[in-house]
Amino acid sequence: MLDTVMFRTRKNQQAEPAPALPDDVVVIVDRAVNPYLVLFHEPAGFMAEQVRGLRNRLLAMNPDGEPKTLVVASAVRGEGRTVTALNLAMAFSELDRNETCIIDADLRRPSCEQYLNLNPQVGISDVLLGTVSIDKALRDVGQRNLKLLSAGTQTASPADVLGTSRIDELFARLKERFQYVVIDTPPVLSCTDAGVLAARADGALVVLRLEHSLKGQSREAVRSLQNLGTNVLGSFVCELRGQDPGSNPRLSYGEPEA
Ligand SMILES: Nc1ncnc2c1ncn2[C@@H]1O[C@H](COP(=O)(O)OP(=O)(O)OP(=O)(O)O)[C@@H](O)[C@H]1O
Ligand SMILES: [Mg+2]
Repeated sequence: MLDTVMFRTRKNQQAEPAPALPDDVVVIVDRAVNPYLVLFHEPAGFMAEQVRGLRNRLLAMNPDGEPKTLVVASAVRGEGRTVTALNLAMAFSELDRNETCIIDADLRRPSCEQYLNLNPQVGISDVLLGTVSIDKALRDVGQRNLKLLSAGTQTASPADVLGTSRIDELFARLKERFQYVVIDTPPVLSCTDAGVLAARADGALVVLRLEHSLKGQSREAVRSLQNLGTNVLGSFVCELRGQDPGSNPRLSYGEPEA
């Protein structure tokens, strides 16, 4: 099993003020993208390296390089599943020959589009209901090697839509085209959706958030996933307290010392 990987956060994270530029130079700084998408905002930073560490462990668990579907799950709401799933997908897509797809399978409270500052479009619900083809639903997100399959049109019965046997066909088709398929899901203890998806995926990662996650609930979520036959690969802890390692000169590496 994968050991717990820790993801430190920086308090009061804010965009730096833009430097003064000559009038004829246009620079677009996408402040509307969620600030915790560190692979987008600070790819050279310490937090992005933590996500790459997670990616590398998952790669090491797959020595044959088989295409994989990975569910990102957590016990309750607000534990950092969406941010972790998006950062991990971006980290996979950085590597050559690692075409990656991120699926927003949280049909109850989808947020991938919002976090990436994209307009809502058709997505996985439409594909599973058979109204749109996979090719039409996959969209660019402005990152090389990375495609998004949004949540799509809202449905009254997400569990039924995700529970259809078409999901197996969808995963199989996506694995023909992508090396990694990362799947964002609703909380395990709130509804059956994550369990249904995780049991059909190649593995699941359980996200915990310190100061928010209760150990008992996280354990219960892992047990519930395992009871459904899920291969739980490990956990990822985000939002650790303590000193920001980026500001610790013994941990930072790259900037020459003064
Ligand atoms: N490392 C972090 N440190 C502090 N806040 C974070 C961190 N990662 C994400 N957040 C913030 O915490 C909130 C919840 O994160 P996120 O949406 O990823 O969790 P979730 O488990 O997907 O939530 P939901 O149950 O609503 O889908 C968001 O506002 C996000 O910006
Ligand atoms: Mg979410």
